[in-house]
This record gives sequence, structure tokens and C-alpha cells, in this order.
Amino acid sequence: MKAAALPFLPWSLPSIGREEEAEVLDTLRSGWLTHGPKALRFEEAVRDALGVEDAFAVSSCTAALHLALLAAGIRPGDEVITPSLTFCAAPNAIVRAGGTPVFAEADPVTFNLDPAAAERAVTHRTKAIVVMHYGGQPCDLAAFRKLADEYGLLLIEDAAHALHAWRDGARAGSVGDLTVLSFYANKVMTTGEGGMIAGRTELVQRARLLGRHGIGISVWQRHGTQRTADYEVTVPGLKYTMPDITAAVGLQQWRKLPDFTARRARIAASYDRSLAGLPGLLLPAVLDGVRHGWFLYAVLIDPVGCRSRDSVADALREIHGIGTSVHFKPVHRLAAYRHLETDLPVTDRIAARQLSLPCYPAMTASDVQRVIDAVHAVWT
Ligand SMILES: Cc1ncc(COP(=O)(O)O)c(C=O)c1O
Repeated sequence: MKAAALPFLPWSLPSIGREEEAEVLDTLRSGWLTHGPKALRFEEAVRDALGVEDAFAVSSCTAALHLALLAAGIRPGDEVITPSLTFCAAPNAIVRAGGTPVFAEADPVTFNLDPAAAERAVTHRTKAIVVMHYGGQPCDLAAFRKLADEYGLLLIEDAAHALHAWRDGARAGSVGDLTVLSFYANKVMTTGEGGMIAGRTELVQRARLLGRHGIGISVWQRHGTQRTADYEVTVPGLKYTMPDITAAVGLQQWRKLPDFTARRARIAASYDRSLAGLPGLLLPAVLDGVRHGWFLYAVLIDPVGCRSRDSVADALREIHGIGTSVHFKPVHRLAAYRHLETDLPVTDRIAARQLSLPCYPAMTASDVQRVIDAVHAVWT
């Protein structure tokens, strides 16, 4: 059979089973659809797994980032250091909270924010650092914790890619003053749309208040025990809560997360074995002491002759029916941020070469082999 005759293999697909279906049905039949008992159970599960003080389930990681920056008290004139090689959600949230993002350079091996570059970006206006765990490999958490403590900055972990990852024994999401998680459709586990903000009690409580209109007591807490009008708005807030229908999916996906990650790690190991040695193809480097979360299998492709990252992506899609993705368009190059005139040559170099191959539990062994064969075919 010709490769092109096979069904399209997307870059990412969720793994949803009967457990999620049953949990959602249970919620639909329960009479309680919005943030309530299931969201509370999901929050407890994440809080306990990360070993942090508190967690609040929200509608997306973007909402969690916005709440984190508001809870951090970011104000106009405040600077927040962040990588550029990330999704626009964190820089956008920094701006929406009134602050100014300051983009710092990436580490050329892990593609994470470089702690030394972050330190060079600190000024008297810096209030916080938002780090990100690129592709699921935790950044240098110990170095960033030290940096934040030394300069009196708030450390926010954007752990959207690293729901189940460790570095030197510390779980991604357990070190920051606040951590945000994403359960977006393409993530390591998903609720379709969804997120969580976790961390120190007083900050998460502030985020909870701000994410619930500024009302101190939830609808679920008021339900049946108080008059519904018995509430106060102590601060002008927003509405970012995760509904129980979503949390139902999250509860079951969270349970499966270790298995999902293990399967991703096996696929990554197959790629490592089978794609090593192709000229101009740099495979992901995993540092000693890291348990990678494998959201991304991120390779770099050196431009040689007429082969480039984009030509490889086109060939995989058009000839072999295989989807890929790019992580990321660096944020300092996006129209909304160009005026900051940031110079980040390492970030630019990675961004021009990076390609994410399919790597998810719904892939069969023959899907994995198909990707390997297709990459070899493109290289010959
Ligand atoms: C690093 C990072 N942070 C935040 C987000 C935003 O997540 P969400 O779609 O849940 O708002 C993404 C989305 O892909 C991301 O990659």
C-alpha cells in the first residue's frame, strides 16, 4: 500500500475511554453541572500529587496565568521575565494584568529559559518570573527558585507541558509560588479546555476570589444552605471556574496520567533509537536527573541544500500523511511584541529549526513505525 493511502496521522490525538464517558454521564445525571464536588475532587488530586498547599480548577491555563499575575499583584510599570520560546498565553496574560513582559534567552540544549539570561534581565522593576517546562523537560527549578528568592521575585511555573515530570527529584509544578497547568485538547491529558492554578495558600485563595467574580463563597458552598443572594463582592473579579462536566473528564484523565506519560516515553525511546544519526537531525537531549513528561518530541532540523524544517513538515504531511507541529513562533517576533525590540539569537535559531513529531498514547506501534519510516524516506 502506498503511504499516502493510509489515513492521516495527526500530530496529536486525545485518549478518552469509557471511564471518562461514565464520569461525565454521572455528572450530567447528578443535577450539578458547574464548579462543584467533582472540581473540588480534581483540585484535591492535583494539590496532593504536586504536594502544594492549594489548587483551583479553572477554564484554561490562560485563565490560570491571568489569575496568577493578578494574584501576584502585577501593576503597570512592573516587569515580568518570561521566555520567548513559549506559547503567547503567558506574555499576553502579563500584558492583560498591566505588566510588561521581558523576554530572556533560551538554553540551546533544553530550549528552556536560561537562568543566567533571566538574571541578566532583572531590573528594579522586575516583580516576577514565569518559567516554562519546554516540551515536558523541567527547567532548572533550583536555579530559578534561588534567583527568585535572591531578588524577592515571585516564581510562576507554566507547567502546561509538564503535568508529570521531575528534575532532581522535584516535580514540575511543586517549586513555584504559583503553578499553572493546561488540560487543553492536545496536552498530555485533557479536558478539552481546562486548567489549574496551584501553589501557596494565600496566592491561590486570591486567585480563587478573583476567578469567582470576587465572591468569597462558591455557589456549591452556598447551595442548599444559604439564601442565594447571601454573597458579597469584595473585589471586582472575573469568571474562570471549571465546570464539573469538565472536571469529570479531568478526574479520570489525571488517574491515567502516569500511564499516558510512560507510553509517550516508550515512543520517544523508539524515535531515539531509530532516528539517531540522520545528518542534520538533532534529537531531544534529556538532562541527567530529569524524568521527562514527553508532551513534545521536539527535533531540530539544520537547513541543508533544499531540506529545511518546513520542507520536512510538508513532505511528511503531503507525501506520507503525517501531521507535525512547530513549538513555537517565538513571541518576541509576533506583531503584538515586536515593538519591544528584543534580540534573542539562540531562541531564533531554535525556532527556525524546531519540529514536533507525533508522540501520544493513542498511536499504535505501526503508527510509530510509520513516522520512523517516513522520516528516513524524507532523508534519502
Ligand atoms: C506553554 C503553554 N502555556 C499555556 C498554554 C495555554 O493553555 P490553554 O490553552 O489551556 O489556555 C499553552 C497552550 O498550548 C502552552 O503551550
